[in-house]
Amino acid sequence: MTKHVSLDDDHLKIFRDDILSGLTAERKTISSKWLYDDVGSHLFEAITELDAYYPTRTEVSILEDNAASYLRLPGARGALVELGSGSSRKTDILLKAFQDLSVYMPIDISANHLKAAAERVRRAHPSVAVIPVAADFTQPFGKLPLLPELPVLVFFPGSTIGNFEKAGAVRLLRQIREAMPAADLLIGVDRPKAETVLLKAYDDPAGVTAAFNQNLLQRINRELEGSFDLGSFAHRAIWNDLESRIEMHLESRSDQTVLVAGNEIAFRRGETIHTENSHKYSEDAFQEIAQLGGWKVSAMDADKDDLFSIFTLAAT
Ligand code: AVJ
Repeated sequence: MTKHVSLDDDHLKIFRDDILSGLTAERKTISSKWLYDDVGSHLFEAITELDAYYPTRTEVSILEDNAASYLRLPGARGALVELGSGSSRKTDILLKAFQDLSVYMPIDISANHLKAAAERVRRAHPSVAVIPVAADFTQPFGKLPLLPELPVLVFFPGSTIGNFEKAGAVRLLRQIREAMPAADLLIGVDRPKAETVLLKAYDDPAGVTAAFNQNLLQRINRELEGSFDLGSFAHRAIWNDLESRIEMHLESRSDQTVLVAGNEIAFRRGETIHTENSHKYSEDAFQEIAQLGGWKVSAMDADKDDLFSIFTLAAT
């Protein structure tokens, strides 16, 4: 058994309050972070292997092409802190290149997933001290076990930053900067591209993304005594050009009332629960939020088709 630090004492209460406030709002919404329970984390892994879902394999190829050059960053010989580490597969590419790394600290909201990944990394890279932290990194970092003696490189892949609206993204970047003031930040960012490509990636023909989205309703049924009938809600992915983002929704197929933790939630036919935003940033657009978050862009690497970027950010 791997020990991990858990920062969420009252997870169920936080979950319930967040879901109920989202479902009783004028426009129903649920934070995408709740997609990642154990089932959801596994479904997301399955998404990353789909032909239709280009981001993961593209980011992996950029990491493979550039891992050796990231040795220029002092943290590559110190501590690597990863936000939203999931299965830590991308990290392997860095850990192979970073032969002198001392510490790897993966932080993820899914505790079981985190433990399995930490065990795997320990076996594959025995010279690295692995310190998994089960935490919601969107909450303040105050309680993180910090590593003052070592230079730090923060790794934030997957374009997870794209899940936040602009203000939230800036706040998170600022929070990372304040928690680890001298660190560099390697951050994966998805780019705008043809709408057909985007829609296929977020509404794949095999229906894995639909299952990932609908698992949120199953999770509410399991954990909050919900009465959602999955067949009554359809997965929708839409491109919002004004906001440069893909949105995921769950659309009610009829007028219906659902129970959640003892509360009646009414849906009109066609009404949706907005479950995720996935913002796509051009180089200029991302540079702007990086600056607002207290960082300067020191490098930008992309694939040959310019589908995806990895920015290297340094403290200003
Ligand atoms: C890993 C959160 C960035 O937005 O592309 C995949 C999540 N949602 N398919 C993304 C996701 C639907 C993914 N992130």
